[in-house]
Amino acid sequence: MKNILVIGSTGQIGSELTLKLRRDLPGGVTVAGFIPGSEPTGKLRDSGPFEVANVCDAAQIEEIVDKYDIDTIYNLAALLSATAERLPLKAWDIQMNGLINILEIARQKHCAVFTPSSIGSFGPNTPKQNTPQDTVQRPTSMYGVTKVATELLSDYYFTKYGVDTRSVRFPGLISYTTPPGGGTTDYAVEVFYAAVKGEEYVCPIAAGTYMDMMYMPDALQAAVDIMRAKPNYFKHRNSFNVASMSFEPEQLFAAIRKEIPDLKVRYAVDPVRQHIADSWPDSMDDSCARKEWGWHPRFTLEEMVHDMIVNLRKKFDVR
Ligand code: SER
Repeated sequence: MKNILVIGSTGQIGSELTLKLRRDLPGGVTVAGFIPGSEPTGKLRDSGPFEVANVCDAAQIEEIVDKYDIDTIYNLAALLSATAERLPLKAWDIQMNGLINILEIARQKHCAVFTPSSIGSFGPNTPKQNTPQDTVQRPTSMYGVTKVATELLSDYYFTKYGVDTRSVRFPGLISYTTPPGGGTTDYAVEVFYAAVKGEEYVCPIAAGTYMDMMYMPDALQAAVDIMRAKPNYFKHRNSFNVASMSFEPEQLFAAIRKEIPDLKVRYAVDPVRQHIADSWPDSMDDSCARKEWGWHPRFTLEEMVHDMIVNLRKKFDVR
């Protein structure tokens, strides 16, 4: 892993992962790939090369891979779950046609590929508690359909062609940097923005709905560690359960109220998001990731909440 292309570098994960890769792996280049309309700004633009990289345009990606002698591709282009329900064909195009472009280029140019999967790859008949690594994956959302197909296609390219594909199933990701958009787990980010600004939060997910969540620094470490791991102990590749914390809205709000007691929340449940959330695991078993490549998260719920509040207060210059 020396010269890296991050496709979707201005998105929720990419905006932070690109900077981390540039910081942690200074020996090569990390190219920030973006689509017109989402140009990198600030540190992301100033700290390394950037290129237009539309995952659906194979020739464009190939040119970048050649130009920078890319050996690793982080393929982060995707529509999140609620948006994908609104635009299923677009989600299919980006997530599937985009993926096969990347895998074909990786096969020809000998690149390793990371394409994230998700808790969304599970469905209503998956065991909800301690969801095993290998279990039923019959999701009912388009997002989930594309994530299962991503896992299968990535494994296919490994077994048939030896392409070094690796992946993790991310929980809902929480960060103060780039907000997610159109996800089912977004509430766990949005409520912090409302809390630090002293605004009422209207929660689209019902109280009592458990989902796996993770603080972004742990998610970024997972994305880096799995690609740097020696594959000697891999029994799986696409994709590993990675877990960190599981909570329902009231537990998160209670943790925030320890620091911001007057947080006000009311519920207006969004049926699309709720339906998706109800079909996802409550908490995943990540023992295979721990055993096969040493995964271990660092942030507890309380530490995450504290860090989010401190940093969002700085960001918005409020006390
Ligand atoms: N955070 C994503 C979503 O809510 C799940 O991977 O769509």
